[in-house]
Amino acid sequence: MLLAGMHPALRDGEFVYVLWPEGRPLTGAVAAAVREAEGLSVVLPRGEADGLGLAYDFVGAWITLQVHSSLAAIGLTAAVSAALAEAKISCNVLAGFHHDHLLVPAADADRALEVLHELVAASGEQKPAPELVLRAEQPGDRPAILALTAAAFALSPVTGLPVSGEPEEVGLLARLFACGEYLPAYSIVAELNGEIVGHVISTRGRVGALELLGLGPIGVVPRLQRHGIGTALMKETIDRANAARERGIALLGSPDYYSRFGFVASTSLGVEAPDPGWGAHFQLLPLAVWPGGVSGTFRYAGPFG
Ligand SMILES: CC(C)(COP(=O)(O)OP(=O)(O)OC[C@H]1O[C@@H](n2cnc3c(N)ncnc32)[C@H](O)[C@@H]1OP(=O)(O)O)[C@@H](O)C(=O)NCCC(=O)NCCS
Repeated sequence: MLLAGMHPALRDGEFVYVLWPEGRPLTGAVAAAVREAEGLSVVLPRGEADGLGLAYDFVGAWITLQVHSSLAAIGLTAAVSAALAEAKISCNVLAGFHHDHLLVPAADADRALEVLHELVAASGEQKPAPELVLRAEQPGDRPAILALTAAAFALSPVTGLPVSGEPEEVGLLARLFACGEYLPAYSIVAELNGEIVGHVISTRGRVGALELLGLGPIGVVPRLQRHGIGTALMKETIDRANAARERGIALLGSPDYYSRFGFVASTSLGVEAPDPGWGAHFQLLPLAVWPGGVSGTFRYAGPFG
């Protein structure tokens, strides 16, 4: 992105590096100066140096990279220097407050501009960021889903400590796939570049005769957690459920995380958790057609028992 907006521009004229005579006040069109213990190096137009009778070896062309650079954008000068080095063009990089500047041998100015324009063009051709695909699971997805669930729950969500053996969520998920309350449209995978990187399942649950969804487990591969994949899976579930005129979604989890999707303590809607000890961690999202006046205890799909 930064490279694509680089706009290299050549300043008029030629520039030289001179060692400024000690004690002489700085005059003329100084373009850059660096003070060192050994003396003051100054970059100025060649004609100016000639007029002042100052000696120089290097005669350069000045190219400004018109991207608004920040000193944090280290990648920009690295990419530019590498491309010029590849083309066997030497270059001095000067970072100003607003932009980066290059001094290349005057004879190489046109070729340097060509190299920089090629670099801009190549960066524009870079592939866009891969798109996250959310879709219902397909028959061949099960092994990948179970493997990702094992990885996601290798640390207990409750204690944060490593789980010994296979996390219980893996067995639970396998049983949910096989149970009568399994709903294919709500076993949703997140796929990135063809890899399944997240999964969420909701199965049929009930409060009395009222059918609800019971969400969980939900997992994202550890290396991609906290990049919005869990959020995307939650939103996809909620969108599908609203579109299908489901009444509500229940789950057990951290109120810190799920409240952002509109989940509230289930008891505030008249629904008791299967285990009263779960307290505010048992949450419910009333969907668009939540009936109101509900009272009773939530029953998950069989395998949760
Ligand atoms: C929980 C999980 C599914 C969330 O998916 P994710 O892709 O990592 O989450 P997102 O990137 O969409 O959301 C990240 C946000 O949620 C917060 N968050 C993530 N997990 C959280 C948790 N357990 N408690 C509180 N907040 C949490 C993050 O702080 C972050 O907040 P921010 O955006 O304000 O910084 C995923 O982290 C995971 O697989 N964890 C291990 C398994 C697990 O705990 N599953 C849930 C229990 S059923």
